[in-house]
Amino acid sequence: METLLATMTLVEKLGQLQQLDGFSEGGFRKEHLELARQGRLGSTLNVRGARVVNELQRAAVEGSRLGIPILFAFDVIHGYRTIFPVPLAEASAWDPDLAERTAAVAAAEAAAAGLKWTFAPMVDIARDPRWGRIVEGAGEDPFLGSAYARARVYGFQGKDPSEPDKILACAKHWVGYGAAEGGRDYAGVELSASSLRNIYYPPFRAALEAGVATFMSAFNDLNGVPTSGNASTLTSVLRREWGFSGFVVSDYTSVLELVAHGFAPSGAEAARLALTAGVEMEMVSRTYAENLENLVTSGAVPLSVIDEAVRRILRWKFRLGLFDHPYADEQREAETLARPEFRVLAREAAVRSLVLLKNEGGVLPFPKNLRSLAVIGSLADDRLSAMGSWSGDGRADDVLTLLAALRAREKLGGPHITYAGGGDVSGTTDAQLAEAVRTAKRADAVTVVLGESAAQSGEAASRAFIGLPGRQLDVLRAILALGKPTAVVLLNGRPLAIPEVATLAPAILEAWFGGLESGPAIVAALFGEVDPSGKLPAAFPHCSGQPAYYGRKSTGRPAGTDKYTSKYLDCPDGALFPFGHGLSYTTFALADLTLSSQSLRPDEKVTLEVEVRNVGPRAGTEVVQVYVRDLAASRTRPVRELKGFQRVSLETGEHRRVNFTLGAEAFGFYQDDGRFLVEPGQFLIYVGNSSIGGLETALTMLPARP
Ligand code: GLC
Repeated sequence: METLLATMTLVEKLGQLQQLDGFSEGGFRKEHLELARQGRLGSTLNVRGARVVNELQRAAVEGSRLGIPILFAFDVIHGYRTIFPVPLAEASAWDPDLAERTAAVAAAEAAAAGLKWTFAPMVDIARDPRWGRIVEGAGEDPFLGSAYARARVYGFQGKDPSEPDKILACAKHWVGYGAAEGGRDYAGVELSASSLRNIYYPPFRAALEAGVATFMSAFNDLNGVPTSGNASTLTSVLRREWGFSGFVVSDYTSVLELVAHGFAPSGAEAARLALTAGVEMEMVSRTYAENLENLVTSGAVPLSVIDEAVRRILRWKFRLGLFDHPYADEQREAETLARPEFRVLAREAAVRSLVLLKNEGGVLPFPKNLRSLAVIGSLADDRLSAMGSWSGDGRADDVLTLLAALRAREKLGGPHITYAGGGDVSGTTDAQLAEAVRTAKRADAVTVVLGESAAQSGEAASRAFIGLPGRQLDVLRAILALGKPTAVVLLNGRPLAIPEVATLAPAILEAWFGGLESGPAIVAALFGEVDPSGKLPAAFPHCSGQPAYYGRKSTGRPAGTDKYTSKYLDCPDGALFPFGHGLSYTTFALADLTLSSQSLRPDEKVTLEVEVRNVGPRAGTEVVQVYVRDLAASRTRPVRELKGFQRVSLETGEHRRVNFTLGAEAFGFYQDDGRFLVEPGQFLIYVGNSSIGGLETALTMLPARP
């Protein structure tokens, strides 16, 4: 590689630092062919498909002076052609192994289509569901988020990303993007060093430890320094402290946006600031290509900085084997995309992402001999929304919606299905409302499908009011007034502030945007063929803007009945549905929590055991969760922190002792300088089936041995 680097002109070096958006109908932008031939196009995003990739790649490999291959990238977030549930849905399964398997399928399809790099996993911690991009990650918690970050990096990259079914992963958006003010996308972020260290960094650190090849710098300003020009996060932390040896790509034009931030007075200064801070590759904006020659000539940017950036990118191109095997195999692509076994996995993932939020009066599961079922709500037949945002090269025609799955079941002898859209997320006319009521009146039971469309979720889709859009609540009220067995199915990309639904509806099944097999998965749950076992990865608030995440600080005046305590006058305290919450069709009981020791030194471990018993009528899966609380520390700690979880599947009547081993990492915290600290003191340990309640025990952390 050094030999190649030494032969490169400055223009060719800058070419490797440039990624352009190649999307256009039919394949790629024709002007990119010439750039490729001149060796000025190191990478593209959105160009995919073996034939298309090969045509552009040929221009670079066979048409340019040095033949350096292009690195083709795409947002393969939750599937390439086989679309899995959105990442927040997958996180509801609390099953990182499953996420690794779906990421591996996504990688296999993407690699077959000529891609060798995805801009995933998105590992931003998100605690404000007004932020539309909460859909793309693993929710509010650093421990769960870290488990998913590791799993997805392994799934995409495997042990060797040069394998024909693997691709480079990208930990994004570095860093703090999910803490945008008011949940408004792209807004400023103010985070303390302690919050960065203990909440927002951990999933990125987990991705790094899993070997993630690349990072993506974010759009947001962080404490006054935009993350795409932030030398502290990009170099001091990411490289010097953590030893990251891969490369950083900017977000879409986020380098040029340093000007709009009011951080750089010009594109040239934006280029200098971003590159010297640690952004090796510029996505779409062209400040590097347009200014770095002059900046090197003027001495503002040392050539060595450019050489190191090029070196980091070329290193991965060599490791990927792109110089030896630059082309995709069209036959392999045809044989790989949308394989039937991938749909089977999509079904499994959709089932496991289901969260039973409420089920009173035994409404669910519907009886097997149900004669007729009315389906109300246009989301029930919205193929596009079922795929959610960032749906890759998924095809709406491949989606089996809830309505389609119910009609298929009817053909096989299932209940007679009737349907009324009842308007849509933008509104409902009185006539549509009346038609929905008429339809429901004629059926023995009703499923009301509520939520938001995929367009109301994802990037640039923040919502200030996160109740049900349109008149969906009116539709629900009118249907419930009929007094029939009624279940609500939620299709959405974020936690919603739906206190009325939570009160009025006897049964609520959260199905998120479940991907290609969303419909069959929901139907299987509605009729009890599967037991919903998901748990919320992010809390549902009572009110828009209410901090409902579980890991909050106690404050000096924790919420209580006294007036002068931390609460709202007009919004209940706590979550509507808390982090970790999820019911089952059976019932589980936890008992007999034991600790191997009631005291611990920082270099020791403690094992806790608990008995889990299925005391309900049928088999099911519980997610046993372990939380820790540090009762007094030199920096105040959250009232709970997740430190362990296990899925436990039991037949009815079966019981099992489950154990967790906790080391010092469960009882300490990162200090502002990054050093991990475990302090002596009293801790509480909770073991339960959500972030509230559970069995409790105490533990004393002793001072380290002298
Ligand atoms: C978008 C997103 C980022 C994505 C990139 C390329 O604006 O912020 O997550 O990977 O641009 O599409």
